[in-house]
Amino acid sequence: CRCQSTSTDEPKTKMNLFDNASNLLTNLLSGGKIGSMPIAEGAVSDLFDRPLFFSLYDWFLKYGSVYKLAFGPKAFVVVSDPIVARYILRENAFSYDKGVLAEILEPIMGKGLIPADLDTWKQRRRVIAPGFHSSYLEAMAKLFTDCADRTVLKFDKLLEQEGGGKTIELDLESEFSNLALDIIGLGVFNYDFGSITTESPVIKAVYGTLFEAEHRSTFYIPYWNIPLARWLVPRQRKFQSDLKVINDCLDGLIRNAKETRQEADVEKLQQRDYLNLKDASLLRFLVDMRGVDVDDRQLRDDLMTMLIAGHETTAAVLTWAVFLLAQHPVKMKKAQSEIDAVLGQGRTTYESLKKLEYLRLIVVESLRLYPQPPLLIRRSLKSDKLPGGYNGDKDGYEIPAGTDVFLSVYNLHRSPYFWDKPNEFEPERFLVKKESQGIEGWAGFDPSRSPGALYPNEIIADFAFLPFGGGPRKCVGDQFALMESTIALAMLLQKFDVELRGSAEDVELVTGATIHTKSGLWCKLKKRSNV
Ligand code: HEM
Repeated sequence: CRCQSTSTDEPKTKMNLFDNASNLLTNLLSGGKIGSMPIAEGAVSDLFDRPLFFSLYDWFLKYGSVYKLAFGPKAFVVVSDPIVARYILRENAFSYDKGVLAEILEPIMGKGLIPADLDTWKQRRRVIAPGFHSSYLEAMAKLFTDCADRTVLKFDKLLEQEGGGKTIELDLESEFSNLALDIIGLGVFNYDFGSITTESPVIKAVYGTLFEAEHRSTFYIPYWNIPLARWLVPRQRKFQSDLKVINDCLDGLIRNAKETRQEADVEKLQQRDYLNLKDASLLRFLVDMRGVDVDDRQLRDDLMTMLIAGHETTAAVLTWAVFLLAQHPVKMKKAQSEIDAVLGQGRTTYESLKKLEYLRLIVVESLRLYPQPPLLIRRSLKSDKLPGGYNGDKDGYEIPAGTDVFLSVYNLHRSPYFWDKPNEFEPERFLVKKESQGIEGWAGFDPSRSPGALYPNEIIADFAFLPFGGGPRKCVGDQFALMESTIALAMLLQKFDVELRGSAEDVELVTGATIHTKSGLWCKLKKRSNV
């Protein structure tokens, strides 16, 4: 692929974005100017044989960190600039909403945090964010360990039964997907999908819904809004029935949580005595701390949003972390040595996470190279003036109300202007302080800017690193996801040596909401010989 010149092998790519909107692209890159913003010019064919964010990267190198891209009558502003990203996400966050993303997700998530209008978002964010406090996360560390343990036991069993105790071949992407589903079910609404070991109609419905959400996010035209489509188109009918299965399940859990609300549990929650609670889920917190008069429909939208937002994303981080480690055996060994030193044969705990520094850096470095999602989407609610960015027009750019903005996290994370050897897998890079190199308006890279943070974040990189977004709409589940990924990776590498089954180039990459593989991450697993 043209945009990579790296020692880290990149998977082959398969384009599925805008596949069916080719007619919209023939008129590419004309349209009126937005101020003095550069207009990208590229081959339309670029858009068809690889994911959109790869083309956006090439155009970023050619046209700069803020440019305009036009699809027929529709134009997008593509931002690959920390100064402009900071402006849109933090400094002027409430002048933007989620635009086309909200249109795609609203039928699934209703008024959940991601697509919610500003008023609903303000109300619900205040209620949900406090649920992710440190006592909850401590209880979750135990849950992550228990679920990762189930995965390890499953692999052990498969090794005995199918591998004659030696080697098994597994699609780790799908195993991580099952693990992440079980964790999100138990952690958010105390429901055990049990997907590591079983299949059920609810699990099938969740995967069906995710598939549809993914499919929708790769389309430019909201075909699902065509009158009667939901009844006439078989895939839309299936989608409606999948949604009903999940909604019925969530409604039952909400009813149950309300009916079983007990004052003793409320006291434990107030005292943050999570480890002695039978059900430490977020739903319990939302119902117990907020009373039974919470609107059921809103609660269901909140749970559905977290189910979708927290599942594929985490599975993808684990997938790419293993993909990268498998190509860097020395780093894999270094990670295993750290695990041996910190855990020995023991289990991961909240405390041990603090000592697994290299593992934590591997997780964030994987998120740097494969951000989930690779693009953040916004739409301006009123006319605005964007800063020019580090290499744009000093006067900045006027944009009219209704402008769609793609914030390319992928470009930011691989920007040669902000990262040394940007395409290399180098977890250690996060430990190093870096001056702003004369880039006016960017504060450089300084780990001490976020004291006490277990994981590098957007603050230390002054918005050149945005694995969980930034500003008021930053991910609420960031620490949950980072801890979950670190624990799952530690438990896997503690017991097994992992290799890719074929070469890295055989792993084809596709994108929708997240970056994932086309046909799975097939790996060879064997028990570690030195443990
Ligand atoms: C928002 C990434 C896991 C719940 C976001 C955003 C990003 C993100 C980039 C900001 C989107 C934007 O600004 O448009 C990730 C990644 C994850 C992850 C990479 C895993 C590695 C989770 C988990 C949960 C969660 C585990 C819940 C348990 C949410 C919610 C929002 C969000 C509710 C919307 C926040 C708001 O608008 O107030 N996530 N996320 N995410 N995420 Fe996550």
